[in-house]
Amino acid sequence: MDASEDEIASSLLGWYGNHARVLPWRSPPGQEPPEPYRVWLSEVMLQQTTVAAVIPYFERFTARWPDVEALAAAPEEEIMAAWAGLGYYARARNMVACAKAVAELGEFPRTEEELRELPGLGAYTAAAVAAIAFGRRAVVVDANVERVVARLFAIDEPLPGARKAIRARTEEITPRQRAGDFAQAMMDLGATICTPREPHCLICPLSMQCVARLAGDPARYPVKLPKKARPERRGRAFWIERDGAVWLVRRAGEGMLGGMRALPDDGWSARADGSGGSPLEGQWETGGVVQHGFTHFGLRMELALYRGRDWAALGRSAGEWWPLGRLDEAGLPTLFAKAARLALATRD
Ligand code: ADE
Repeated sequence: MDASEDEIASSLLGWYGNHARVLPWRSPPGQEPPEPYRVWLSEVMLQQTTVAAVIPYFERFTARWPDVEALAAAPEEEIMAAWAGLGYYARARNMVACAKAVAELGEFPRTEEELRELPGLGAYTAAAVAAIAFGRRAVVVDANVERVVARLFAIDEPLPGARKAIRARTEEITPRQRAGDFAQAMMDLGATICTPREPHCLICPLSMQCVARLAGDPARYPVKLPKKARPERRGRAFWIERDGAVWLVRRAGEGMLGGMRALPDDGWSARADGSGGSPLEGQWETGGVVQHGFTHFGLRMELALYRGRDWAALGRSAGEWWPLGRLDEAGLPTLFAKAARLALATRD
């Protein structure tokens, strides 16, 4: 680290001392780190999800499962239901595997390398936990950090190719001391000042060191390749209601929304073309359409309302009659929660 790199860390940490966001998984700047369980859980939840969306989930999880042993001992279905609405459900399944391994070990390992060996714990989370919970010098790069560093050094290469250069630059500016505060300061700067559009350079603690700012167009960075249009899939979901209850299934293990409770559907998640049929043709009425965006495709899902009474034919697949009055406790992922709202609105 040369003098100017050192200046970046000290300007940033000085700013963080006064402007750190107060968040339930954090310690104030310069203080003893929070428990590794809370750091780990928050970092898993924060991947691909905003701070505002995560806060209530983090509060509920830590109230219900206050330590990693409690989480490891909880039935997986309960954890998946509590996760419903956060999205990216593979994260929750990986989190459960990781909690079990840590409970078995008796505590969280303290280095990035050892953390990396835990099941379901990726490179980003290992670096974040090592830095934030254990004060290790680790290079933590999330999307906010990526943006700040691409601007600081005016990295012209487009993402995702630029990631290597961004990581190398982040490595250069990460200080030996307070790497956890440094990482969180970068995240806060990215979230509150170095924002994607119209960054607030006038109040930025790094404006004097920022090459993109000096060149006059910081919002140009990080450079991105034009986005490919997201393909659209079509599918159908089935609303089958009987005596104040609806028929719910549990989705298969590893696939999309795997392990989550759901409405039965025609298998859209395994196909691109919406060609799935439904049993008992002719006994359905259309209940409208739900649009939902996944990362790699949009889904146009028709809702089919069952109007027949052939319960025996329907009941052959595994599932359960779930009382409509307790539907909010079913832990339906957002796609199916939207479909359920539509079905209930249609029948009222
Ligand atoms: N995003 C990911 N990790 C974070 C953290 N520790 N604080 C704020 N935002 C984050």
